[in-house]
Amino acid sequence: MSDQTTPDVSRRRFVQFMGGALAISQTGLLSSCATGSQYKVKKIVMPKMTDEVELSYGLTYDVVVKWGDKINLKGDTFGFNNDYLAFTPIPGKENEAILWANHEYTSPMFVNGYMSGGKRTKAQIDSERYSVGGALVKIQKDCCGKWVVDSESEYGRRITGATPIPFSNGEKIKGKTEAIGMVANCAGGVTPWGTILTCEENYDGFYGEYPYGSKKRVHSRIGWERFYDEHPYRYGWVVEVDPFTGAAKKHTGIGRYAHECATCVEAKDGRTVVYSGDDTDNEHIYKFISKKKGDLSEGELFVADIKNGKWISLDRNKNEKLKKAFKTQLDLLIETRTAAKMVGATPCDRPEDIEIQPGTANVFVALTNNKKKGNFHGSILKIAEKNGDFLSMEFDASDFVVGGEKSGFSCPDNLAFDKNGNLWMVTDISGSTIGKGKYEKFGNNALFYIPMKGPNAGTAFRVGTAPNDAEFTGICFTPDYKTMFLSVQHPGEESKSLKELTSHWPEGGDSIPRPSVIQIYGPLLDELMS
Ligand code: FEO
Ligand code: CA
Ligand code: CA
Ligand code: CA
Repeated sequence: MSDQTTPDVSRRRFVQFMGGALAISQTGLLSSCATGSQYKVKKIVMPKMTDEVELSYGLTYDVVVKWGDKINLKGDTFGFNNDYLAFTPIPGKENEAILWANHEYTSPMFVNGYMSGGKRTKAQIDSERYSVGGALVKIQKDCCGKWVVDSESEYGRRITGATPIPFSNGEKIKGKTEAIGMVANCAGGVTPWGTILTCEENYDGFYGEYPYGSKKRVHSRIGWERFYDEHPYRYGWVVEVDPFTGAAKKHTGIGRYAHECATCVEAKDGRTVVYSGDDTDNEHIYKFISKKKGDLSEGELFVADIKNGKWISLDRNKNEKLKKAFKTQLDLLIETRTAAKMVGATPCDRPEDIEIQPGTANVFVALTNNKKKGNFHGSILKIAEKNGDFLSMEFDASDFVVGGEKSGFSCPDNLAFDKNGNLWMVTDISGSTIGKGKYEKFGNNALFYIPMKGPNAGTAFRVGTAPNDAEFTGICFTPDYKTMFLSVQHPGEESKSLKELTSHWPEGGDSIPRPSVIQIYGPLLDELMS
C-alpha cells in the first residue's frame, strides 16, 4: 500500500508488536495502538497472495465443515460455495447449535467435471442442483471447545435447487404455488423470531429471465432450463427457513431482484422492517415494512431515493403510474426493478450486505463497486433513519468509509457488528482481477476490523487474508462472541483445469480446493471486542 517496507520486514515488526501487546496488556489493544503504534497496527496482516488463510497474531482458525462432508444419517452432504451463515442455539444445550449456510453456486469442474465450452448433461445439472441452496448443520463443541459437525443429527438437512418451496401466501406464479428449489443464495438475515432469511441473488444465471415487456426468454448462463423448464419468475425472492424443521417458504412482498441480503429489525410498534439491496450495477436499496408482527408474508415495499433522503412506496394503489403499468401488486413485485425506476429510485454501486449499527437506526450498506462508472473500490454508505425510527420515510445518507489505497480495502461485501458495536467487513475483489491492475496492491480478499469509537474510529485494520481466488463471506458470531464463523468461498475458482489448480486449500498437497466454513477464535478476538 502506501508504505514501501517489504512485506517480510513489516510483518515481523507488527507481529512483534502484536505479541508484545498481548503479552503486556489484556486491557485494550487499540489504546496501545493509539499511543504510538497506529502505523504497525494498520498493517496487522499485509496484503498478500498466498494459498492460505492468514490471520493476525492472536487469532487461530479451524475448518468446521467443507464441501462434500456428510451432515446427517441419510448421507446428505454439505453443498458448494457456502456463503451466508447463521448460528441458531439449541435451547437447553449450551454447547450445541444449528449452523445455516447458503450454497450460492457451483464451480462445475470440481462438482461434476464439466468444462466450459460444451453443454452440460442432465446428470451434471442434477449434481449442480444438489450442490446449491442451503444446509442446516448440527454442530457441537468437542472436548477442546472447538465446534465440530455432528454428522448423525436429525437437525442436519439440505434444501437444494430441487426442493419444492411454496410461496408464502399461496400465490400462483405462472400457474404454480411453489417453486422447485432455490438458487443463487447469497447473503441473508435472521428474523426477530429466529427463522433464517436466505436470498436468491443472481437467479437469472440458472433459469434465465424474461426482460420486462418481452415474451422472449433470455437463456441462462448455466442452462438448467434445458432439462428443467422452471419459470424464471419463481426465482429472485427472499426465502424464510425454520432452522429446526427445515420448512421453507418464498416471500414475494420483499420484491424480486438480485437480493444480496435481508436484514431484519423490529420497529417500535413490533412490526418487522427488512432492508435489502439489489447487487447489480445501478440497481437499488429497498426497505420492507411487514403488515403484521412476526410475519413477512404481507407488507409494504419502499425503495430509496438517496439524493432526496426519502423512501418511495412501491404500492401500486398509491401511484397512478404504477397502477397503469401493473395489473396486480404481484405483477409489480415480479418486476420490482422496473417499478423502482418508474418512481425515481436512486441507482447504486452494487449494494451488497446491510447491517444495523447496534443501538441506533443507522443502516450501513456495503456498495462494492461500479466499474462501468469508474468506481473500482466501493464504499460503505450510512443511512440514518430520521428520528431514529425504522418506520421513518426520510433519512440522511452519507459515506461512512470509502475504499481505495488510502483506506487499504477494496470492494466491501459482507458486514457484521460485534457486541461492542465495532464493524467487521470482508471484501470481494473478483477472482479474475485479484492482484491485477487497479487491484494489484490489495492482494487476496481479506477480513477487516473497523472500530467505531476512539482515536481509530472508522479505520479499517486488515486482520485476515483469504486463500487464492477466494472471498471470505458470511461473518457470524456465536452469542458469547468467543467464536467467529466465516465462509471461505470459491478458493481456486480461477483454476484452468484439475491439473492446473490455483488453490489446494484447505487440505493442501495435490488436493482440489473445497469451499469451507472456518471458526476463528483467540485472544485477539477477545481483545478487539473488549
Ligand atoms: Fe453473492 Fe453480491 O454477492
Ligand atoms: Ca456477497
Ligand atoms: Ca452481515
Ligand atoms: Ca460480492
